[in-house]
Order: sequence, then structure tokens, then C-alpha cells
Amino acid sequence: MNGEKGEAAATCMRLLVTLGELFEADRMIPITSAHVSGVSYKNIGTAGLELLEELAGKGAKVQVKTTLNPTGMDFFKWREVGVKEEFAREQLRIVEAFRKMGLLEELTCIPYEAGNRPSAGEHVAWAESSALAYANSVLGARTNRESGISALASAAVGRTPYYGLHLDENRAPTLLVQAPPELEDPLEFSALGYFIGQNFGRAVPLIRGLKTVRPEGLKALGAGMAASGAVALYHVEGLTPEAHRFSEKPLGGWERLRVDRKDLEETLRKLSCGAEGGYDCVFLGCPHYSLRQLERLTSKVRGRRLRRRLWVCTSRKVYEEAERRGYVAAIEEAGGVVLRDTCMIVSPTEELGIDTVLTDSCKAAHYFPSLCRVKASLGTLDACVEAAVRR
Ligand code: F3S
Repeated sequence: MNGEKGEAAATCMRLLVTLGELFEADRMIPITSAHVSGVSYKNIGTAGLELLEELAGKGAKVQVKTTLNPTGMDFFKWREVGVKEEFAREQLRIVEAFRKMGLLEELTCIPYEAGNRPSAGEHVAWAESSALAYANSVLGARTNRESGISALASAAVGRTPYYGLHLDENRAPTLLVQAPPELEDPLEFSALGYFIGQNFGRAVPLIRGLKTVRPEGLKALGAGMAASGAVALYHVEGLTPEAHRFSEKPLGGWERLRVDRKDLEETLRKLSCGAEGGYDCVFLGCPHYSLRQLERLTSKVRGRRLRRRLWVCTSRKVYEEAERRGYVAAIEEAGGVVLRDTCMIVSPTEELGIDTVLTDSCKAAHYFPSLCRVKASLGTLDACVEAAVRR
């Protein structure tokens, strides 16, 4: 704070000390990684861009592995999808400022599948609600729900205030959720998460009744909870790394929530705009699709002809592997577009002539109307592909 390590580090430290004081942290702790949101020009605008350039100009440098959230455009295909030159110019300046500060150009909301995958017990400072929910819950790492700027400040000094979910006692469940049996499709997990977050937005849920959940199901579950509520940590009995610590504990004082299939159907119905058949675009990949999800999509579109726009978003790392395996070619031969570095929510979708979207993500359906002025409806991956095939 006294400027010994430069002006930028002092500014970042001041910000973290203020944050720590607000939350009554008694000290700072070292972190092993960071993930920074607020990367799209659409979200942070000129003021955000200038702040980043100022920090970079004053010599801010990250001290730990730090990845970035999606930007407002695919750096390779932005012209192809109609992003304007002026937007692209400012977006490139933002990423250049981050590059100067030493952040890795993995522009994704699944950094844990792009080389930034902390282990259980590691203290990190992550922004991006879906990513940090995954880090806390599925990987067992420890992070608060950071903002883009607090995550960047932590990255620049390698520390974070010791409060909230860094402390053992705050990781214990406060809510017992009985989930309906035999959920399978990621959209069902997305809806379950959305329903929990809507009803208990500040809880740490322990979820019972889920037998096997694939990583994409857990990713959708956490993203849903973090979109409708502020849930940053959940446990799934028998599945997530910390759940066993609490499963046998007495349940006194916990709130309870029983969820049945009707609740999930109702959640999906309420989130959908009901523009059956009239979609301008099908959007998949919120959070970014994994390799397995792209493989699944490939198997459904190979050899078919998509008559409607279908965009699927992923990380650069996943894209490279998908390209090597022929998935990108198969999806694009069918008429879809595989995008990296971006997603439709943080890109200037409203300027691309898109008014209605069909998606397989409750998080995307939640944000489309408010952040993009776009109406959204929900469907499983199968329903999304069928809608893209039909005219
Ligand atoms: Fe990721 Fe964009 Fe969804 S950042 S979680 S794809 S809103």
C-alpha cells in the first residue's frame, strides 16, 4: 500500500484492504489463481477500458495464473457474424491492456477446462458467477464471489482478504434440497439450479437425490443458481468433494426445499418467451460448451442441414481440440457456427438483427431480455437442433 511495489499494486492493495474491512477480514491470504470478468467492451464500456489501460500503464502485473472471461467477439470470426469495426477496435484495446498486465488469453467462462483448474483447498480469487460456483463446489477450491475488478486487484498482488467462503464455517450447508429423481439432461440441472437460486438466493445448498451427474450437469446446475440467486457454493451428496463432511450432520437449523418435476417444468415455462417456431438464432454454450458437449452436438447435426442460425460458444482450448477431431468442420458444414472467446450475452447481439433466441441454458434465458433486449425460449439440445433444422 505504501507504493514500494509501484503505484498500480498500491491501488490494488488499497481496494482489497477496503473490501477486507467491509467484510471484517482480519488478514490477507495468498492465492494461487484468479479469473477476471468484465472483459467485454459491451459490459465495461469506455470508462472500463480507460481504467484497464491506466492500470496497465502504471505497471500492474498479475502475480498468479489469471484467465479472462469471454469478450464481446470471436477474435477470428467477428466479421463473419457481423460485429462492427468500432466495437472490435475497442475490444482489441481491452484485451491488449490485459495482455500487458500478464493475463492469459483464455477468454472463457470455463477456465477450469482451459488450464486454470485449482485443486481442492486452494484459495483463489475468481469472478464469473458460474465459474466460481464450479471452482467452489465441484473442484473444492475456495473463492468468494468476486467482481472483475476485485479479482484483478487480487491477481495483481497475489492476495485476497480472508473472509466469506475462504473460511471453513461458511462452507457448511444452510439448506437441504431434495431433488427429483433421474434428472439427466443438462437443461434439467440448469432448471433445478435456477429454481433453488430463485427461492434461496443466499444459501449454501446440500442437494440430495442426484445419483450420477456429469460435469456438464454440475456446470449447468451452478450457473442456474448463480444467475437467479447469488449462490456461490453448493454440495451434492455423494458427488462433490466437501459433501461428505456434512451429510451425516444433524439437520437442525437448515432450511428445506423439496423440488419436483413440476417445479422444473414451471421454471422453464416462466423463463421462456413462447416464440415457438419464430427464432432468429439457436444459441448453445452458456456456460461455454465442453469437448464432450461439442461431440454430442456434432453427432446430432452431422450430415444434416441447419436452416436457421445456430451458434455454439466454447473456449479456445476446447475449440482447438474440437477442430482437430473434426467437430468444428461437421457443425459448420451443417450450417452452424462454432465461436470462441465470446458468448451471445456479452456480445452486441442486439445489433446483429437477432430478436428471438432458443437456448438450452436458464442462465442465458435469464439474461437475454435484460442485457441484450432479446426474447429467449428454452429447449433441450435435441429441441434446439430440431428447431435449427426446421425452417
Ligand atoms: Fe459464459 Fe456468457 Fe453464459 S460468459 S456463463 S456463456 S453468459
